Amino acid sequence: MGVLCYLTENKFSLWPLVLCISVAEMAVGQVRYSIPEEMAMGSVVGNIIQDLGLDIKRLKSGRARIFTEDGSEYIGLNADKGTLVVAKRIDREELCKQVSPCSLHFQIILENPMELHRIDVEILDINDNAPYFSKKEYNFQVIESASPGARYSLESASDPDVAMNTIQTYKLNPTANFKLNVVSLPDRTKYIEMVLHTSLDREKQEEHKLTLTAFDGGDPQKSGSVKINVIVLDANDNAPVFSQSVYRVTVPENAPKGTVILTVSATDNDKGTNEEVTFSFSQHTSRASSLFLIDPHNGEMAVTGVLDYEKAKHYEIDIEATDKGGLTDTSKVLIDVTDQNDNAPVVSIISFSNPIPEDSPLNTVIAMLNIKDLDSGKNSQVRCYISPNLPFKIKSSAPNFYSLISDDVLDRETVPEYNITITAVDGGFPPFSTNKTINLKISDVNDHAPTFPQQFLTAFVTENNSPGMPLLTVKASDMDYGSNARISYFLEDNQLNGMSASAYFSVNAERGEILAVRSFDYEQTKEFQFRVKAQDGGSPPLSSNVTIKIMVQDQNDNAPQVLYPVQTGGSLVAEMVPRSADVGYLVTKVVAVDVDSGQNAWLSYKLQKATDRALFEVGLQNGEIRTIRQVTDKDAMKQRLTVTVEDSGQPSRSSTVTVNVAVADSFPEVLSEFTDYTHDKEYNDNLTFYLVLALAVVSFLFITCLVVIISVKVYRWRRERFFLQIQRESSCYSILPAPLRRRRGHRYAEAGVQL
Ligand SMILES: *[C@@H]1O[C@H](CO)[C@@H](O)[C@H](O)[C@H]1NC(C)=O
Ligand SMILES: *[C@@H]1O[C@H](CO)[C@@H](O)[C@H](O)[C@H]1NC(C)=O
Repeated sequence: MGVLCYLTENKFSLWPLVLCISVAEMAVGQVRYSIPEEMAMGSVVGNIIQDLGLDIKRLKSGRARIFTEDGSEYIGLNADKGTLVVAKRIDREELCKQVSPCSLHFQIILENPMELHRIDVEILDINDNAPYFSKKEYNFQVIESASPGARYSLESASDPDVAMNTIQTYKLNPTANFKLNVVSLPDRTKYIEMVLHTSLDREKQEEHKLTLTAFDGGDPQKSGSVKINVIVLDANDNAPVFSQSVYRVTVPENAPKGTVILTVSATDNDKGTNEEVTFSFSQHTSRASSLFLIDPHNGEMAVTGVLDYEKAKHYEIDIEATDKGGLTDTSKVLIDVTDQNDNAPVVSIISFSNPIPEDSPLNTVIAMLNIKDLDSGKNSQVRCYISPNLPFKIKSSAPNFYSLISDDVLDRETVPEYNITITAVDGGFPPFSTNKTINLKISDVNDHAPTFPQQFLTAFVTENNSPGMPLLTVKASDMDYGSNARISYFLEDNQLNGMSASAYFSVNAERGEILAVRSFDYEQTKEFQFRVKAQDGGSPPLSSNVTIKIMVQDQNDNAPQVLYPVQTGGSLVAEMVPRSADVGYLVTKVVAVDVDSGQNAWLSYKLQKATDRALFEVGLQNGEIRTIRQVTDKDAMKQRLTVTVEDSGQPSRSSTVTVNVAVADSFPEVLSEFTDYTHDKEYNDNLTFYLVLALAVVSFLFITCLVVIISVKVYRWRRERFFLQIQRESSCYSILPAPLRRRRGHRYAEAGVQL
């Protein structure tokens, strides 16, 4: 069996499921069983596990089930044991009538992957029916002059069984006057008649009672019988004769009522009223008599009922021609009903995978269909197609079975569902067609990443914002569906100014709202750039990112700072203006900066206070201090100006600076003027006092020392002179020249100074 070949090929694949459904060729196998009819319910018909090479697990996973085209449920599937069992009483006669062999056909269908196994169960006949006749008795009137050889048509008995179990022989009793003639017709039906072989004599016996018995060939043998009463009539002549012993005619099914299908005729050699022949159906032709009618006078046979080829294809009617004298002849009319295209194809969906994922490969089996037309021949040849321009096609996988497979790439984002109309047209004229529409949904696969409308976003925030302030909201969209389109937002954690971005910003994962985590200082950082990632909920997830630029905007939070003139605590710096200075003389320039920017750093200068307002002015823009009139001798030497520096912020901030100006021609003049006042003078006075005191002390000590030394020297010199005088007075006088004397004295003086 080629059933499982493709499964075996894919045995080593990791994804047998995926591969299996992508294989359009379905496994098709065939198994045949035979069972006798009338088996008890639950009797085992066969073991499909053995016979199809399946196992219980596969039966369960494939949701094995039985599909019959006509919906009959004679055979059930015991999925636990893998056996087919009798589910309903099977009466072969009811199922197949006279058709032999009689089989049940059905399919075992498995899903994941789809498999189709055709099972035929042949139902064997048992002899459960006895032959029977449709009537209890027949009455014949036979003229006594009937010559031996006259024939009288009899009904054949019926036995729904087939082969040996159906009727094999007939017996007629007694056989004194009549014998039985069994004629086998070319179409294997039997036609029986009673033939007169010994002349009757009404005067001897007016009535004959016979019994016709039919026997079947079964074991044990069964039989059925009917009584035949023959009443012998007085005298007679020629019997009518049908023009044909068998009439054969074809009539299309659904022929309208009243359609004449045949005219039979009979001749009678008699003259006068004995020549008049009337036609009728034989007494036993009961079934067909409701469908047809024969005109007793002209022999026209017409349709009076509904002929349905699908119910009965042949009719057999015995007709009789009777003359006034009661003489008859019999004939047979065989009616063949021909098929008309009166049945539309029937489309049934056996299996349908819905929805299918949008990434299903080509040739994925979506549905399996069974298409059947009850007509026969060309009228039942069905062509099947689907609406054009769809990414699907239909493929025949076994006779009457079709599979709908994908034929192109599917994309849920483009077409989320398809209405596929399957049209089945038969080959009749005019053709019949059937449409069946199935609604196929395409399920989503995460094949789209979230996208932001822009790649860059810029937002502005004023510095000194409150932490937690919302800055902007990002929004991405995802073309997928459900959780594949559920977007979460994340901050990509890169470094901003040496700190992680999350130290500055946070992103609300659901809403995409970006918040400031802290307060920003424009003077420190003017802008931030970071990325926010949008990620969907698919598996695996897809993501994309957007670059966010946050521009910090300046606020006037810094006052101007004066760089020049430097404002030191106590010392004084003064700008000199010579008395000869002209109008517009540049005294100095106030230099200030503001760390804010723009408007907030746009400085203006104003003279706030001045010793003499008429003498100086300050440039509004540049801070230059200039004289505005000629300096005169009368102007005070010391001039003090207070200049305000103000920025243009809203509200503005300002600083003041004091500028000392000296109107003088030389620096000492300035100095003298500037040192004689203020608290410094006191300090200077003290210093002078201490200096003078120290000088006095030192001078005093020096003079004292000098006096002491001179005194000591003078004393010593006097003692020397005294000793020399004594020596000279005692010996001789040594005369010392005057300069020498003087020199010695000088030397002593020098030594005193050196002290
Ligand atoms: C399919 O048919 C249904 C019902 O008729 C209809 O509501 C739906 O819009 C159709 N879909 C498409 C894609 O044509
Ligand atoms: C951000 O997205 C761009 C394209 O949009 C991509 O080239 C880049 O690799 C992404 N960056 C990260 C960190 O994912």
